[in-house]
Amino acid sequence: MSNARLGVNIDHVATVRNARGEGYPSPLRAALDAELYGADGITAHLREDRRHIVDKDIEDLVDNLQIPLNLEMAATEEMLLIALKHKPNACCIVPEKRAEVTTEGGIDTVKNFKTLKDYTSQLKDNGSRVSLFVDADKIQIDNCMEIGADIVEIHTGKYCQLIETGSTIADSELNKIMAISKYSESIGLEVHAGHGITFNSIKPLAKIQSVKEFNIGHFIIGESIFMGLEKTIKKMKSLILES
Ligand code: PXP
Repeated sequence: MSNARLGVNIDHVATVRNARGEGYPSPLRAALDAELYGADGITAHLREDRRHIVDKDIEDLVDNLQIPLNLEMAATEEMLLIALKHKPNACCIVPEKRAEVTTEGGIDTVKNFKTLKDYTSQLKDNGSRVSLFVDADKIQIDNCMEIGADIVEIHTGKYCQLIETGSTIADSELNKIMAISKYSESIGLEVHAGHGITFNSIKPLAKIQSVKEFNIGHFIIGESIFMGLEKTIKKMKSLILES
């Protein structure tokens, strides 16, 4: 049985709101409802282009949530100032490209080592836990440790796509995530996982005991159209607990 936490990413409630430029549906309302239905945390990604979550959403979440807020952000000066002001429970540093539809891969901790180290120490000194979103690769994990991160979030996007399309190489990708999660935990990092997770992919992923938190957004918000937010969150939580 897994006792991993479920972090619900509410970005795509904001995507729907912004599609019409109205004040609804409200990401804050979704977050408060998610809290009520058993989410253990809320994740929101404030992108440089503000395509979904906007600054006011972060303010509202910080002011109203009882459960931890995990702020996803790029390692830019602008985002650093916002995070220092709001002191979210955790900051998850992700790579960001303007033209991408979603976060396509983990951050390159080799290329960005110095920036990430500096950024991480400022956020930690300000009281936020720091998480780095990385691919399942040992060099990346070792760098996360040296950078001083508290948490690594392993990018599960590739595995989730493979399992959804019934690929025969899905198991080898799962084994890679499992091995890197175990290794990360063994060197003292807290392990999270996220990206592309669905009801199908959570079952094998939640069997990985080293993973202490899953951050799931697009599927939960999409499935809520059919099942409602309450049933979707409760089902996702029970799939994690049963694994
Ligand atoms: N974790 C991180 C670091 C992400 O960037 C995202 C996407 O914003 C997620 C989790 C959630 O991914 P998805 O929306 O595909 O569930």
